Amino acid sequence: MTEPPLVAFIEQVVQRTDRALHACLPAARITPVRLHEAMRYAVLGDGKRFRPILLHAAGKLLGVPAECLDVPACAIELIHAYSLVHDDLPAMDDDDLRRGRPTCHKAYDEATAILVGDALQTLAFQLIAEDPRLDTVPTTTRLRMLAELSRAAGSRGMVGGQALDIDAVGHELSLADLENIHIHKTGALIRISVRLGAFCADTVGGAQLHALDHYAKCVGLAFQIRDDILDVEGDTADIGKTRGKDAANDKPTYPALVGLEEAHEMADHLLEDAMDSLSPFGKRAATLRALAHYVVDRQR
Ligand code: IPE
Ligand code: IPE
Ligand code: MG
Ligand code: MG
Ligand code: MG
Repeated sequence: MTEPPLVAFIEQVVQRTDRALHACLPAARITPVRLHEAMRYAVLGDGKRFRPILLHAAGKLLGVPAECLDVPACAIELIHAYSLVHDDLPAMDDDDLRRGRPTCHKAYDEATAILVGDALQTLAFQLIAEDPRLDTVPTTTRLRMLAELSRAAGSRGMVGGQALDIDAVGHELSLADLENIHIHKTGALIRISVRLGAFCADTVGGAQLHALDHYAKCVGLAFQIRDDILDVEGDTADIGKTRGKDAANDKPTYPALVGLEEAHEMADHLLEDAMDSLSPFGKRAATLRALAHYVVDRQR
C-alpha cells in the first residue's frame, strides 16, 4: 500500500507535470498537424510520471521551488516518452499496447512514430536551454544539465542499453550482463532525474550528490526488475501493456535469468541499499524513502 502523504505528493506532481507538458508541446492545430497530434498522444496519455515525481522529490529535499523543477521534469518525461514510442516499434519490441491504448505507431503509423521520438527528444533539450523558469539557475549549471542529460539519454546511457537489450535476444547472459543492460536502458534516465532535481539547488554538496546518486542507481535498477516481474505477474489492465510479451520475445529479464523469487529478492535488496544511502538526510528524505518502496511494490 502506498502511504497517504506519498499519494498526495504524487498527485500534486502528476497534475503540475501534466499541465506543464500540455503547455510545452506544440498545439495539435499547428503544422505539421499529424506529427504534433501524435506527439501529444504519446506524451499526454496515462503515464505514471515517475521520473518527474522523483526529480521533484529530490529538488524538494534540497529546497528548490517547484516551478523551477517543472522544466527538467518535462524534459525528462519527454525523453522517456520518446524512448517508449521507439521501444514499441516493430523493429524493437513490437508492442501494440502502451499506457492502456494503442502504441503510437498503431494509432498513427511507423514513420510518424519515428519522427515523434525525434521531435520529443529535441524539445526536451530546447526546454532546458531556453525556458525562463530555469533562469534562476546559473548558466554553467544549465550547461551541465544539458551535458549530463545528453549523456544519460545517448549511446552511453539509455540508447546504449536499448542496443544491448536488442543484441541480447537469443543469447545466454550472465547476471552482470543483464544488470548492465538494465542500468543503462532504464537506470540512466532515473539516475539523471534525481541529479537534475539536485542541480537546481543553489548549492548541493559533493557528499549529498553522491548519496542521492547512489539512491537513484539502486532505484533505477529496481524499477526495471519490477517492470520485468510485472510482465510475468502483472495484469494487462493495470500495467497498460500486454503481459507476457518479454517471454514471447525472448527478452533479457530478471525472471527469465534468475526466476521470479530471486528477482523479488534482488529488488528488495536494492530497496534496502537505496534506504541506507539516504541516512545522511534523516527525516528530510521521507518522500524519497516512500518512493523507493513504491518502486518495488507497484502494480503498474
Ligand atoms: C516503462 O516505464 C519503461 C521502463 C523503462 C521500464 P514506466 O513504467 O515509467 O512507464 P509509464 O511512463 O508509466 O508509462
Ligand atoms: C524499456 O524496457 C526501456 C526503455 C528505454 C523504453 P522495456 O522494453 O521492458 O519497457 P516496456 O516493458 O516496453 O515498458
Ligand atoms: Mg524494450
Ligand atoms: Mg518494451
Ligand atoms: Mg518491460
